[in-house]
Amino acid sequence: MPSQKEHIAVLGAGNMGSGIAQAFASAGYPVVVRDLTEKELARGRETIERNLNRSVERGRLRPEKRDQVLSAIEFTTELKVAAKNARLVIEAVFEEEKVKKTLFAELAPLVGEKTLVVTNTSSLSVSHLFEGFPLPERCAGLHFFFPASVNRLVEIIPGPNTSKATMESLLSISYSIKKIPIRVRDSPGFCINRFFVPFLNEATRLLEDKVADIPTIEAAANELLGTKMGPFELMNVTGIPIAYHSNSTLGKALGKYYHPSALLKEQFEKGEKWKIEGEANPAQKEAAKGHLAGVLLGIASRLVEEGVATAEETDRGARIGLAWRVGPFSLLNEMGTISGYEQVDKIHRHWGGAFPVSSRLAEVAISNEPWPLTTVRLEKDGPIAWILLDRPDALNALNSKVLLDLERAVKEAASDAGVHVLLLSSTSNNFAAGADIAEMVTKTPAESLAYTTLGHRVLSLIDTLEKPVIAVVDGYALGGGLELSLSADFILASEEANLGLPEVSLGIIPGFGGTQRLARRIGDSRAKLMILTGTHVRAPEACAMGLVARTYPAEKLKDEARELALTIASRAPVAVRLAKDAVDFGIEAPLPSGLALEKQLATYTFTTEDLREGMKAYLEKRKPEFKGR
Ligand code: HXC
Repeated sequence: MPSQKEHIAVLGAGNMGSGIAQAFASAGYPVVVRDLTEKELARGRETIERNLNRSVERGRLRPEKRDQVLSAIEFTTELKVAAKNARLVIEAVFEEEKVKKTLFAELAPLVGEKTLVVTNTSSLSVSHLFEGFPLPERCAGLHFFFPASVNRLVEIIPGPNTSKATMESLLSISYSIKKIPIRVRDSPGFCINRFFVPFLNEATRLLEDKVADIPTIEAAANELLGTKMGPFELMNVTGIPIAYHSNSTLGKALGKYYHPSALLKEQFEKGEKWKIEGEANPAQKEAAKGHLAGVLLGIASRLVEEGVATAEETDRGARIGLAWRVGPFSLLNEMGTISGYEQVDKIHRHWGGAFPVSSRLAEVAISNEPWPLTTVRLEKDGPIAWILLDRPDALNALNSKVLLDLERAVKEAASDAGVHVLLLSSTSNNFAAGADIAEMVTKTPAESLAYTTLGHRVLSLIDTLEKPVIAVVDGYALGGGLELSLSADFILASEEANLGLPEVSLGIIPGFGGTQRLARRIGDSRAKLMILTGTHVRAPEACAMGLVARTYPAEKLKDEARELALTIASRAPVAVRLAKDAVDFGIEAPLPSGLALEKQLATYTFTTEDLREGMKAYLEKRKPEFKGR
């Protein structure tokens, strides 16, 4: 939690600004909201109060928490007051380039040395907005989705000079307020609006071209995406002018396919809502579904090909930001890549170059393989490799797909001769909250055996790797998550990490090796205390009992783990491997056998070139150059 002087400044008390302020205050941050007049500030405060009161009435929020949130927000008309000592300044004023740029010019001399400055624009170029702003490495786009107090999605858009440290801070700040960030390149519509806005437009084209009537298009969209509101109802709720203007803006940037349809323009000019009554026509529904799918798949595959976002983050954004059942790429895989491609191609044949087909989509369709989507990222970094669980919206819960993706990533890193040390961690601020309860709940005993066997296979693969594996744990490491970290050689954790085996509270027992590996790591008595109570321990306590090898402040954890891994990677590879074997195989054996094993392995090191190099380098007072031989 930041100190009082490191507040979050929100510029603009409108719908977005007040929602953003509420999100930060609810997560415990002090917030200062700034707008031009007391009247606007009062309106912002009323919006926040109304939202909070509604949550209290629905029993979702305690009245004390409401009061706490409200008292964490200060309102001011003084830009200087808002900007001074802020940790982060979020611009959320009127969506017009000139207005935003004028504000940034006023803000520039007021921001502190460490302050980050972001714009909540949904449609303007982040690079243009920050042109001429001092310290551009601390600026970026942070696009919240409506309603910002509850919608968990944020797009983080780096400008041309945004530093890696700024991106990391913005990711970590986003997670700290329980948002799910996706990283997006600065481009028209960013990621989500790039396909969502034309999706609304295309619904109106289907109507205009008499492919289907409104109730049928609504039903088609709802079936396709698992939504309760189709595109027309959504436009009625959020405002037809917004749909019209967003399509006009995209059309200007991306060409004629993205221009608003004649019908959308007409409806906007009439100032009327869409009339939705009536029954869906089943004969027209499939055509409408296929067409809407074609729009989404065509645009999403293009934006991924252009490097705007990854397919995984595009899907995640659609699920979280738009509350769709699936994102475009999972939809493609459900439909089959050939059928998906055919729908895209139909639209392409109508629009030609204005609706180009991604060559990557054509490739996957030709191979008739699913579009590859992974939940585990592998990032090689010189002699070390990061294996990162990447399912932040479910706190990296380990379903079968995650376990299989993990197995693939571990095998790839293990078989790469250039990789000497593996770091097992996550892309977010949580390691893993266990096996996936939603997947387990319906399993029959036979299915659960297969699942447990899979878990054992993957964790044993990690446990028995020749290369050292370090688990780097922040946030929750619970159940299967803790069991996974126990399969590494040791655990480094952030001081805030929370570790436990809560399985007995679900009616099961630790089934990914927890009863065995935990007892061996910390002794049977402490292991039983943790397992039988199902309670969590904080990292410092876990460290004191030997479960965690070392703790670090959260913001330093990954850097420190990296340094430590690089240190191991700089040592003689064969010696590192044999030392690991001596401990792993010796610890289970009686002491005389363990010592005998150590003697054999130590003698073996005398056959290696690395031993000669290591000792020679020591005597010559230089750094050794090990060959791993
Ligand atoms: C499936 C999970 C999950 C899990 C979290 N999520 N843990 N989904 N399986 N183990 C999902 C939530 O449903 C939610 O999804 C989203 O992640 C965010 O979680 P919240 O609960 O909203 O977050 P928070 O309030 O911060 O609480 C965090 C938490 C809590 C305390 C960690 O999520 C929790 O108690 N999770 C379960 C922990 C657990 O019991 N683990 C052991 C599992 S059994 P939505 O969609 O609602 O946003 C196990 C057995 C291994 O591991 C052996 C098997 C054979």
